[in-house]
Amino acid sequence: MGGQNPFLKSTTAGKPTKPYTITFLPDGVKVGVKPNEVPYSRDGLPGSVLEIALGHGVQIDHACGGVNACSTCHVIVREGFESMPSATEDEEDQLDNARGLTPTSRLACQAVPDGSRDVVVEIPSWNRNMVREDNH
Ligand code: FES
Repeated sequence: MGGQNPFLKSTTAGKPTKPYTITFLPDGVKVGVKPNEVPYSRDGLPGSVLEIALGHGVQIDHACGGVNACSTCHVIVREGFESMPSATEDEEDQLDNARGLTPTSRLACQAVPDGSRDVVVEIPSWNRNMVREDNH
């Protein structure tokens, strides 16, 4: 799965326009994002926090495959919140179901930084997917 949910209004989020870094807490994995390298994976909107995380080996739960139909990819944006377009009403509806909601909570699959700031996101412990499958 991946991409956009055909039952929801499309978002105005675009890919980043400038290179920036995104740091994933609590492990502190720092990734450099270059606009011409997006997308990195098939899950979430192109350039989304989820897509970048998965493309760099950082695991975040994403039960619906990144189409704004669950809240398992909930992350807390610690820095660079203003570099992402506001959450849509549909994203806010899903966030209402998220555990540990904060004023800077976002769905990782829907939050697309524009590259104007470096970003730091915290993956809540209950959303970290510790299981990793090897390639077969
Ligand atoms: S993975 Fe389901 S809403 Fe993001």
